[in-house]
Amino acid sequence: MNTTTGQTVERRQFDTLIIGAGGGGLRAALKLAEADLNVAVVSKVFPTRSHTVAAQGGMNAALANVLPDNWHWHMFDTVKGSDYLGDQDAIEYMCRAAPKAVYELEHFGVPFSRLDNGKIYQRAFGGQSQNFGGDQAARTCAAADRTGHAILHSLYQQNIRARTHFFDEYFAVDLLRDDEGHVLGAVVFNIHDGQIVVIEAKTTLIATGGAGQLFKTTTNALINTGDGMGMAMRAGIPLQDMEFFQFHPTGIAGRGMLITEGARGEGGYLVNGEGERLMERYAPKAKDLASRDVVSRAIAIEIREGRGCGPNKDYVLLKLDHLGEAVIQKRLPGIRQTCITFLGIDPVEEPIPVFPTAHYTMGGIPTNRHGQVVVPVKDTPEEPVAGLYAAGECACVSVHGGNRLGGNSLLDILVFGRAAANHIIAYLKENKYHRKLSDEELARVVENARRYDRPKADGESVAELRRELKQVMEEHCGVFRNKDVLKEGVDKVEALAQRVKNIRIDDQSATFNTAKVEAYELENLIAVAQATVNSAFAREESRGAHSRIDFPERDDKAWMRHSLYSFEQGLDYKPVRTKPISVESFPPKPRVY
Ligand code: FUM
Repeated sequence: MNTTTGQTVERRQFDTLIIGAGGGGLRAALKLAEADLNVAVVSKVFPTRSHTVAAQGGMNAALANVLPDNWHWHMFDTVKGSDYLGDQDAIEYMCRAAPKAVYELEHFGVPFSRLDNGKIYQRAFGGQSQNFGGDQAARTCAAADRTGHAILHSLYQQNIRARTHFFDEYFAVDLLRDDEGHVLGAVVFNIHDGQIVVIEAKTTLIATGGAGQLFKTTTNALINTGDGMGMAMRAGIPLQDMEFFQFHPTGIAGRGMLITEGARGEGGYLVNGEGERLMERYAPKAKDLASRDVVSRAIAIEIREGRGCGPNKDYVLLKLDHLGEAVIQKRLPGIRQTCITFLGIDPVEEPIPVFPTAHYTMGGIPTNRHGQVVVPVKDTPEEPVAGLYAAGECACVSVHGGNRLGGNSLLDILVFGRAAANHIIAYLKENKYHRKLSDEELARVVENARRYDRPKADGESVAELRRELKQVMEEHCGVFRNKDVLKEGVDKVEALAQRVKNIRIDDQSATFNTAKVEAYELENLIAVAQATVNSAFAREESRGAHSRIDFPERDDKAWMRHSLYSFEQGLDYKPVRTKPISVESFPPKPRVY
């Protein structure tokens, strides 16, 4: 224990602090622990409850186990899927690294589904093609429809074996920095006893996942509140491409739970209220396996034009019954159970009512392909922030650009979690010692972290503000957008940001600590919402998941650039890295499926 500014705080030191225990954080932690580094993982939930556990359909890698495939076709599909906003050096790196990442998981014990010949099972997913836009590929390696669950549990067990140090149920509040801008760790809050702990680290990796809780209807767990993104913004780091939020086409209508794209990969299809296979109209070739932005828009249009299903014509149906019970039970047991539990519907017999639901944050903390957080400095588009890394959904490397392909998310976390760890290992060889954390910085950050220590009887309710925010984002930043709707969204989010300064923390003893966590989470959500609506309002084109009714075309001349939003600078832009590492660029083309 050390004493600073008259208050006692626990101080701990590690080589690396990892914030977040999903697949990205745990993959990095394992690599670092195996390199004999002293690694701490801080997680606000028990690690195996991190949201990676909810990933269903699988992880893309061109293994060619089912159909011919190679990493270059995977790269093409990913660039096209991103609507040409993805950085092609990072995409090449990821697609090349994918097979190795899968085999590593296999060796860690992940129980992938198998083909009759014993090889890893691969299913078709949206936006996948052979031969640069030809026939459908089958690239998604799956453990039935519980792939994330299998991966997260295996990684956790490997980390226990490797002696990674876990701070379970600690909430990371803010980063520590020195005068030269080096990141020196973070201040964290012990949810159990309410104590603040200072974790000093030579390197810090943010791996806190996405921010699906911005929206009312979402596939995301309650924990997905954009904590690392909010933390980065408070440290003066901009967020990149936040206007690109993915709506998964098949959430359970009105509730949001995920029905994996794997259901369509196994042969399921969507029908409208008139019994038509609606995707034939929007993607004549790929049909139900067009990319997600295309399928989500198609469903929204069908409903808007009165061709929805049900008494209110407000959903479409996902039909699986023709696949037969044996296939559904073998390949899709999890979603069958979800439908039985939450809808009282067995997809073996009845179709599932579905509607697009908020699913994935394409934007995030800007990084290069080594996981280093990068910010614009003077005339350079990107300079690393010393000691700071980010990986996974909270980061924007950017391999997903304007629209992520299904199955590339698990791949992203594993490839870039590992890449960040590799860079950290090299960095620590040159940077052996802890930098000094000044008493002033320590006192400032600790004091700030204690901002909710005193219960406050009057003021705004945290739960009510969070509910209002989710409603505003749902109404003003959804699948289709226009200037007026977005402008209203900006005004409403900015008004909520003011109200968050006056929140009430109820002192209900047993729940006081969780009330504080909810207050921190709300601050993070609001910061991420500000970045999202402001970036969406400014981007006057349609690209990927950002669909402007008033600017329906993609505009490469004006908008082939990444947005950056920070509290200090507002909006700024930087170029897309269109040059891959070793192959020719894929130039922008009209995107048809
Ligand atoms: O549909 C799914 O199984 C989701 C996969 C993903 O988001 O990559």
